[in-house]
Amino acid sequence: MYAVTGATGQLGRLVIEALLKTIPANRIVAAVRNPAKAGDLAERGVIVHEADYSRPETLGPALAGVEKLLLISSTEVTGRLPRHRAVIDAATQAGVSLIAYTSMLHADTSPARLAIEHRQTEEVIAASGLPAVILRNGWYTENHLMALPPALEHGAFVGAAKGGRFSSAARQDYAEAAAAVLATGGHAGKTYELAADQAFTLAELAAEVSRQSGKTIIYNDLSEVAYRDVLTGAGLPADLAALLADADAAASRGALFDDGGALGRLIGRPTTSMQSLVAAALRS
Ligand SMILES: NC(=O)c1ccc[n+]([C@@H]2O[C@H](COP(=O)([O-])OP(=O)(O)OC[C@H]3O[C@@H](n4cnc5c(N)ncnc54)[C@H](OP(=O)(O)O)[C@@H]3O)[C@@H](O)[C@H]2O)c1
Repeated sequence: MYAVTGATGQLGRLVIEALLKTIPANRIVAAVRNPAKAGDLAERGVIVHEADYSRPETLGPALAGVEKLLLISSTEVTGRLPRHRAVIDAATQAGVSLIAYTSMLHADTSPARLAIEHRQTEEVIAASGLPAVILRNGWYTENHLMALPPALEHGAFVGAAKGGRFSSAARQDYAEAAAAVLATGGHAGKTYELAADQAFTLAELAAEVSRQSGKTIIYNDLSEVAYRDVLTGAGLPADLAALLADADAAASRGALFDDGGALGRLIGRPTTSMQSLVAAALRS
């Protein structure tokens, strides 16, 4: 049995779709906080179990009989470690033969504060003794493109990354990589730094949006504090805004860049280009 936590989320759903290409539905467990949101998966024969990271009593039953587990990191930006630990403990109890975890690019050395709980989760996994594969995901290109509507409205992307290069990739690519490490052998003990084949700066992203939209869009680089304030002004919670501004500052020092090519190798094709994701976002 193959299980995916957070399976009603955007990444989780894409992982389930990718698994369904090679694994029968009745061997896939969608381990979800709210089973009511997974009715469509159940209708397709996927087994749906409640698995709420903050309710450990749901985790043991959800993982009973599971051999390979993908733990998708929780959405909470702080306080994730105890939630992840609860899943790892349940996986240990269930005797899974492989746990895969969606960590963050260069989590062991990244200066970004977001990396701290990923690093700690990796340590808990290592201490559990479970055969494991660490998927150190780079930034989602979709993160950048969430700012596309305001950028088109105001003529600028804003950030605090200076000329930092982002090897951001599509969620779809990370999902296919996660499905590949579950569905194929030989990944236990590996740590993959997952990033797109081509990196870009935020100025290059703005230039590409200009080229495709026909409007002049610039990149306006701010201080970390000023960018944080823009994000809180746009309605983000203060702690999330601070973490995202901190991540941009870390990116200015290369934290979200990688050119090792592991993502393309895992998915067996070139990674989806920023240019094609911009085109899709402009169409939507
Ligand atoms: N690399 C990046 O750029 C980047 C960007 C954003 C996020 N991330 C990380 O990647 C993860 C997946 O991203 P995504 O885009 O799929 O996020 P998403 O669409 O917000 O989905 C997150 C999933 O986590 C589930 N979840 C949250 N709290 C939970 C809990 N206590 N117990 C069980 N499930 C819980 C949610 O359940 P519900 O469906 O019930 O809400 C949802 O299914 C995020 O959680 C975050 O750690 C990475």
